[in-house]
Amino acid sequence: MKPKPHIVGLPVYKPGKPIEEVKKEYGLEEVIKLASNENPYGSSPSAKAAIQAELDNLNLYPDGSAAELTASLAAHLGVSSDNIIFGCGSDEIIALISRAFFLPGDETIMADQTFSVYKSNADIEGAVSIEVPLVQGTHDLDGMLARITGKTKVIWVCNPNNPTGTIVSGSALTAFLDAVPDHVMVVLDEAYYEYVTDPSYSDGIKLLDRYPNLVVLRTFSKIYGLAALRIGYGVARPEIITLINQVREPFNTSRLAQAAAIAALGDQGYVDECRRLNSAGRVQLEGEFGRLGLEYFPAHGNFIMVDVRVSAFDIFELLLRKGVIVRAGHRLYPTYIRATVGSQEQNQVFIEVLEAALKEQGVLV
Ligand SMILES: Cc1ncc(COP(=O)(O)O)c(C=O)c1O
Repeated sequence: MKPKPHIVGLPVYKPGKPIEEVKKEYGLEEVIKLASNENPYGSSPSAKAAIQAELDNLNLYPDGSAAELTASLAAHLGVSSDNIIFGCGSDEIIALISRAFFLPGDETIMADQTFSVYKSNADIEGAVSIEVPLVQGTHDLDGMLARITGKTKVIWVCNPNNPTGTIVSGSALTAFLDAVPDHVMVVLDEAYYEYVTDPSYSDGIKLLDRYPNLVVLRTFSKIYGLAALRIGYGVARPEIITLINQVREPFNTSRLAQAAAIAALGDQGYVDECRRLNSAGRVQLEGEFGRLGLEYFPAHGNFIMVDVRVSAFDIFELLLRKGVIVRAGHRLYPTYIRATVGSQEQNQVFIEVLEAALKEQGVLV
């Protein structure tokens, strides 16, 4: 049995530790998970009701084309239905783009510390990842342009960037898109779009008419609070959507996910409230980091990356023992942890245990 040579030795994705596992391992009653940028407020009640109503149909396959959801989303975004493709999370859209476009030896450009799924899918297809260093935690779009060659197929721009939380402005983005040659696709990953309140940020969907090589990715996993159901989407011109559809599994999103997403889209009041609470939580955490004298990247999503000035793994471990799960292990930022913005109470607990951990490590006196 011989696998494809380029997949031998590829790492398996390591997700944040599940709450149940941490409770068991550390004998804890309460655990706060701030590791996977989930919505701490759950999902809209209308999404839950839609799932209940769908429970009698579990024996039926879903509509593979997700026609009703596609129509709802098209109306919401102001695009046409043939501009949209749904996936089992936007993770799947990244995989499908990679499957549809990469031949072994093709090049793909991304930031050197960004969402790991771009590189892992490029690796699976045998494409070569060109990783361009972030500058102060932010995409270096000129640096990315400079690395384009005749072999470049796709450039990934994560906006806001996971894990740093920074954004590129609308004007920087359009100057970049103006300069990208036609043979290169730009995938603009806006998984955290709904959380951004900075006026310099641009809505990628509005750029689609001007840039035929652009694909925008979004998800129901973050502000819509439906991560468990695995549903995300890509928006692009119909020719690109058709190509991605050709490599999609027939029933890649479930009935429950489609029904919940339609209901969640219809409750924009819930989205607005989550955005407001998240902005307040961001301010709360930034204030506390400031008080503790910790540096952090300007955060625009529902997470924040902060420099703890000692091994992030050590702080991660100390927080875990106290029942707070964050993210460490960012290759280029070994002293930074990434924490999801939780509810006000969760943030308070996080800061208390962080302060104690930093004292234990001698960072604070
Ligand atoms: C930047 C970014 N893109 C895409 C995803 C994937 O989201 P999902 O597959 O849940 O839609 C995530 C999840 O954390 C993310 O941070």
